[in-house]
Amino acid sequence: MLYDNLTINDRGHLTIAGHDTTELVREYGTPLMVLDEDRVRARCRTYVEALREHFPAGSLPLYASKALSFKEIYRLAATEGMGIDVVSIGEIHTAQQAGFPLERAYFHGNNKTDEDIAFAMEHGVGYFVCDNLDELDAIDAKAGRRGIRQKLLLRLTPGIDPHTHEKINTGRIDSKFGAAIETGQAEELVVRALSKQNVELLGYHCHIGSQIFDHTPFCDAAILMLQFLADMRDRHGFCAPVLNLGGGMGVPYTDTDPVIDYKANIEKIGKLVADTCKKLNIPAPAILMEPGRSLVADACTTLYTVGGTKVIPGFKNYVSVDGGMTDNPRYALYQAAYTVALANRMQDPADFCCTVAGRCCESGDLIQEDVTIPTPRRGDLLAVFTTGAYNYSMASNYNRVPRPAMVALSDGQHRLVIRRESLDDLTRNDV
Ligand code: LLP
Repeated sequence: MLYDNLTINDRGHLTIAGHDTTELVREYGTPLMVLDEDRVRARCRTYVEALREHFPAGSLPLYASKALSFKEIYRLAATEGMGIDVVSIGEIHTAQQAGFPLERAYFHGNNKTDEDIAFAMEHGVGYFVCDNLDELDAIDAKAGRRGIRQKLLLRLTPGIDPHTHEKINTGRIDSKFGAAIETGQAEELVVRALSKQNVELLGYHCHIGSQIFDHTPFCDAAILMLQFLADMRDRHGFCAPVLNLGGGMGVPYTDTDPVIDYKANIEKIGKLVADTCKKLNIPAPAILMEPGRSLVADACTTLYTVGGTKVIPGFKNYVSVDGGMTDNPRYALYQAAYTVALANRMQDPADFCCTVAGRCCESGDLIQEDVTIPTPRRGDLLAVFTTGAYNYSMASNYNRVPRPAMVALSDGQHRLVIRRESLDDLTRNDV
């Protein structure tokens, strides 16, 4: 099995953290997202402990909540002692409603509107990650009017290409995010920030991409960022106490993907940072990291009910499920790989090669192509693994399909953490 919390019971059913998936579905219906909360917590602890062990005091992982944003996940992040990365006032609002201490929140985004800036300051968001000169002026002005000094990191692009999918590759010079070191624009942003009365510049941020398996791109980025940090000290007398290396560590979606040792990766980056700081003769900054996918992706499984099976002789076979691109748009967007299983017949011979299709009126509404499972029957339960990141958070109501429910498993118990959308939810804003 793909992960160690997945097993098959003596009825031939898939179990997740000991729970029979057919029983979960009997209680909550489908499509159902099943989140193993204990697995998320364990991964949070790996990050918290590794950062504490291998980086200077003040180092902290921030949960990149764009991966999966709902109230309970912010409560979880709070109790695990993490910070959070938020990118919209919607995420700030959700975190605030969940009681997350917003002084541990870092506000990202390449276009914070005046309304966003005011909202974040009003709610006491601890840090802004400033993207550009215009935004810097706006943050400074708003902070001045409120009589505060806003703590700030600057988003920089170190020019690293980590070879992930083009759409999730963000550290290159031509990215829409941040200011490039290579063009001199990063330095310009530093000089402007240092001249401002109402912001307190603490350091720099970079995020090079997502679903990265190897530690080397992070090390390459860290070297460039530390070199920049040293240059700014030499040229402008500002020695940044904080460096945020962003998110991006990958997760295996199939059994051909490498398994990642997060602790070992962090340790390697820690050594590299310490050595580089020594070479550059700068005090080692506190290191922040922003894992999203690697905290939640492999803790969640989506369960669907099989509808029709279609055999097109000489071409291909389809199996249709009661969800699709509305709850998981990642195959349609990125041709993302997923592992699929027939959850109520795990021990039946896998003899049917098919494309798993969603229910939307759109040919591209597919979950995966060319998977081999037992020949499905109407009413069977189809499981798609590794759906915790960028599934629910990117879900839509296309075709007026309601978003699924999510149930959390912890300590042998299950509980609803996101209600299934109702038909009335769908028309709530219609006039
Ligand atoms: N920090 C920043 C500034 C980010 O932009 C992101 C992700 C993260 C942290 C978290 O990265 P992670 O650890 O999750 O790789 N929708 C795409 C992924 C987009 C990632 C956007 N930024 C997908 O489904 O693959």
